[in-house]
Amino acid sequence: MSKILIAYFSLKGETYVNGRLEMRSVGNTEVIAGKIEALTHGDLFHIETQEPYLAGYYATTEKAQEEQRRKARPRLTAEVGNMAQYDTVFLGYPDWWGTMPMAVFTFLESYDFSGKKIIPFCTHEGSGFGHSVDDLKKACPRADVRQGVAIRGGSAATADKEVARIVDMMK
Ligand SMILES: Cc1cc2nc3c(=O)[nH]c(=O)nc-3n(C[C@H](O)[C@H](O)[C@H](O)COP(=O)(O)O)c2cc1C
Repeated sequence: MSKILIAYFSLKGETYVNGRLEMRSVGNTEVIAGKIEALTHGDLFHIETQEPYLAGYYATTEKAQEEQRRKARPRLTAEVGNMAQYDTVFLGYPDWWGTMPMAVFTFLESYDFSGKKIIPFCTHEGSGFGHSVDDLKKACPRADVRQGVAIRGGSAATADKEVARIVDMMK
């Protein structure tokens, strides 16, 4: 039996979608992670930073850019109990300035992904994966990184076809 982890980073609260600011109680990437869970019954793991991003959309974009510039590795609130048991990892994140949030790098550098399948999924506002999949491959050189699917953040709630494609990529 294949054991599945769905690890994701996602912010709720203020976001910018289709040209205006909106409030959400669940982040876009979290919506997709929940749909993957419904189909696969994998274990969900929320990648969260100890220092939260609370100050609204524009302050978050600035903080994120500064973290990227200095290659920050923000501390996370929790660890995956037994990573060795998983052979398939769905990895979800928003595109932040062309790649993954730095917290996802912290996550990737915390475990040995050798031999595991990693299926990336991202939500974005126009730039798709950016260079995040290349960065993911560099961070996990011995993992079997699949192509993955990028989804418009504003379409997350209705992205069932894309989610089916993501799940199919574990085969
Ligand atoms: C800090 C930050 C940087 C972002 N950078 C990009 C970007 O470079 N390209 C893009 O298409 N969208 C960018 N976005 C938009 C997010 O990728 C998009 O809103 C995503 O769906 C948010 O996911 P979440 O709700 O799960 O956090 C950025 C958003 C934030 C907060």
